[in-house]
Amino acid sequence: MTTVLHTGIGELVTNDPAQGDGSRLGVLTDAALVVEDGSVVWVGERRAAPAADERRDLGGSAVVPGFVDSHAHLVFAGDRAEEFAARMSGQPYAAGGIATTVAATRQAGDATLAHGLARLAREMRRGGITTFECKSGYGLSVEHEARSLAVAAKLTPETTFLGAHVVPPEYRGRREEYVELVTGPMLAACAPLARWVDVFCDRGAFDVDEARTVLEAGMAAGLVPRLHAGQLEPGPGIRLAVELGAASVDHCTYTTDADVEALAAGTTVATLLPGVEFSTRSPWPDARRLLDAGVTVALATDCNPGTSYTSSMAFCIALAVRDMGFTPAEALWSATAGGAAALRRTDVGRLTPGHRADFAVLDAPSYLHLAYRPGVPLVSEVVTGTQHAS
Ligand code: NIG
Ligand code: FE
Repeated sequence: MTTVLHTGIGELVTNDPAQGDGSRLGVLTDAALVVEDGSVVWVGERRAAPAADERRDLGGSAVVPGFVDSHAHLVFAGDRAEEFAARMSGQPYAAGGIATTVAATRQAGDATLAHGLARLAREMRRGGITTFECKSGYGLSVEHEARSLAVAAKLTPETTFLGAHVVPPEYRGRREEYVELVTGPMLAACAPLARWVDVFCDRGAFDVDEARTVLEAGMAAGLVPRLHAGQLEPGPGIRLAVELGAASVDHCTYTTDADVEALAAGTTVATLLPGVEFSTRSPWPDARRLLDAGVTVALATDCNPGTSYTSSMAFCIALAVRDMGFTPAEALWSATAGGAAALRRTDVGRLTPGHRADFAVLDAPSYLHLAYRPGVPLVSEVVTGTQHAS
């Protein structure tokens, strides 16, 4: 098997505190990294690097673990630019906007959905995302939810069944029947295509009892729970996620003391989605409170046509640092190792022996530039396993 030595790394973020400066990011300077068969087999100082079959000099660039985007809605048709413009003129966001995308998605052919997903996946990769999760949730019928997941499963193993995104228009006034559909025939069709089950538990979507019903049914079908909660108002969703041992509870724009205590005592990751607050002009979540309480915090794009139409994790990092109280080091950790924790992945999010060789080369001397140079496409090369893309 060929070994490849990547050398001349000005700054290497490993996310292994046993490496380099001993910080949580485990930062090595003047470093090298050896890849074999798609995995990292050695990291350390350049001078100590072992011989390898091939050698690539990165010319002093910074290298960071590939971003792990644990929350995205990428299978859809149409866009909602007008809705965004209206919001920027003062309209508030409401969950009901999802129905616009559901109508466009149902009308679209399979190829249109697949092309849309492939385009966003390419954007993500170009920006350094090497693992991404993808939800259904814009089909909201047995046929259309299963179709969305089948499209997503071609590009990622991290597929999430979100039949309980909102109650679709044809079930207006019959929400119990819709929950029965989601937990019955829709789940049966979707479970084989998904790893996760999710619910939008918030005002205008599903209440906490409905969310429990859907998550428990999903768990009984072998799916692992995650939850949207605390986006539009405080509520019991975050505590439900912790109680059920969900891998992650996402948004957490509004958190109470009881929520923070529950998260700190539990195993559920809190995933913050700065693109949503940016694109909906919502208040920023109190990330400092979560971080200081010792909660594991992830950052994700929530790329979707309604509330966060960005595929850029670097942009999310910049927002998290500038507006949510993260240090640059915390933001990078949350966008890499934090995302991996939110997806319960132990093979990605770190650059140490045994982990996948998924990394982004930055046209910058330090990861600090991700927040220091917002909006600048700093990712010059992305490596996943043995594949390179500049
Ligand atoms: O994560 N909150 C629920 N779902 C998406 C929004 C989807 C939409 O508005 O189309 C989110 O923000
Ligand atoms: Fe979402």
